[in-house]
Amino acid sequence: MAQLWGGRFTKETDQLVYNFNASISFDQKFYQQDIKGSIAHATMLGEAGIITKEESEKIVEGLKGILSDVEEGKLEISSKYEDIHSFVEATLIDRIGDTGKKLHTGRSRNDQVALDMRLYTRDEVTALQGLLKELMTTLHNIMKDNLDTYMPGFTHLQKAQPVTFAHHVGAYMEMFKRDYDRLSDIYDRMNYCPLGAGALAGTTYPLDRKMTADLLGFYGPTLNSMDSVSDRDYVIELLSALSTICVHLSRFSEEIIIWNSNEYQFIELDDSYSTGSSIMPQKKNPDIAELVRGKTGRVYGALISILTTMKGIPLAYNKDMQEDKELTFDAIDTVKGCIALFNGMISTMKLNKENMKVSAMKGFTNATDAADYLVKNGVPFRDAHGIIGQLVLYCIDNNKAIEELSIEELQKISPVFKEDIYDAISLKTCVEKRNTIGAPGPEAMKQVIEINEEFLKNI
Ligand code: ARG
Repeated sequence: MAQLWGGRFTKETDQLVYNFNASISFDQKFYQQDIKGSIAHATMLGEAGIITKEESEKIVEGLKGILSDVEEGKLEISSKYEDIHSFVEATLIDRIGDTGKKLHTGRSRNDQVALDMRLYTRDEVTALQGLLKELMTTLHNIMKDNLDTYMPGFTHLQKAQPVTFAHHVGAYMEMFKRDYDRLSDIYDRMNYCPLGAGALAGTTYPLDRKMTADLLGFYGPTLNSMDSVSDRDYVIELLSALSTICVHLSRFSEEIIIWNSNEYQFIELDDSYSTGSSIMPQKKNPDIAELVRGKTGRVYGALISILTTMKGIPLAYNKDMQEDKELTFDAIDTVKGCIALFNGMISTMKLNKENMKVSAMKGFTNATDAADYLVKNGVPFRDAHGIIGQLVLYCIDNNKAIEELSIEELQKISPVFKEDIYDAISLKTCVEKRNTIGAPGPEAMKQVIEINEEFLKNI
């Protein structure tokens, strides 16, 4: 047991208390950020004349050595320390002697951990955006290739109107574009440096907070020291954004599962992204899509957990906040895994375009267009709706699609129908005529694809 704060105590901590309190098992995940933060702090202490330049350089060298030794596996992060901060400081003192004891001048673990967590999550925001970009690039390519891949669009999981596969996938593209932008917003709001806030009330040393903020790539220092050590809004926002990404991945997974089912057969997942059954030899299961859908629960759990942890904490730092780490790390790793696996799954799946088309033709998805035909020929929409309703009933009784009826059959229901009805309700017409921006028609889709192309180029 090695503690930084033993001076005031006459007794050793109870082992169970020590274990309950310690965070090294998980906060070692941000050893890099902890050391980089310390390097910036020591550099600033030297520049500001709070310690000598020589001392500052010696500390920085020592810290760099610790960083590279951990990275190269020459130095193991030992669990005999309470947290990563204690480990780094003790190792530094061990290596460079008493000068190392000056590193913590004008700093508290409260602003230190606030800094480490910000640096860590900031790096992860960028990594998540990189993965989202890869996923969006896959979707973009699928869209470009499938402008005339017809499929039924659904409401209530009932066939509604025909769309294209490009259009359906394009809906998810919009969701992931918003997810990407949401992460950029979070980055911008969180990118202020809490270092220098001390335990809660700043310090009496003439710290140059702007310098440490600059050295660490922040826009500037945070403006209230009590807020700086107790703010975890950026964690809440990040977990909320991750939860939203999960909503999107989960809905998409659900559709993949439906499309891949024996009943639909719109797509076929690649063998490399499917699993079998131990008893049923015929099975090829969409486990990856199911796992992505399932993992949503633990990410929501992390969000609810941090919201609950934070809600009753008085200012400023309280140990409750140590609970922000494990769940955030887990949520980040989970979502990164989900995006990468989902991307692999959809870039290898096969589309059964014919099945999609046949399905679109079979479910009266052109009924609205048949009604619109009547409207264009002078029938009020409400009457047209009723006429087509009768027509659909007739088709169901006779097991036919609207376009399979003879002109005589059609005219028996409404004399307004003429030969040009067949062209007006063909799948191709139904899709191609829908060309207002945002609709599935090819002209509209091409404009959106151009916008997406620009988006991907600029991120
Ligand atoms: N492990 C602690 C955390 O994660 C570091 C800060 C400790 N500060 C303190 N006053 N005990 O929050």
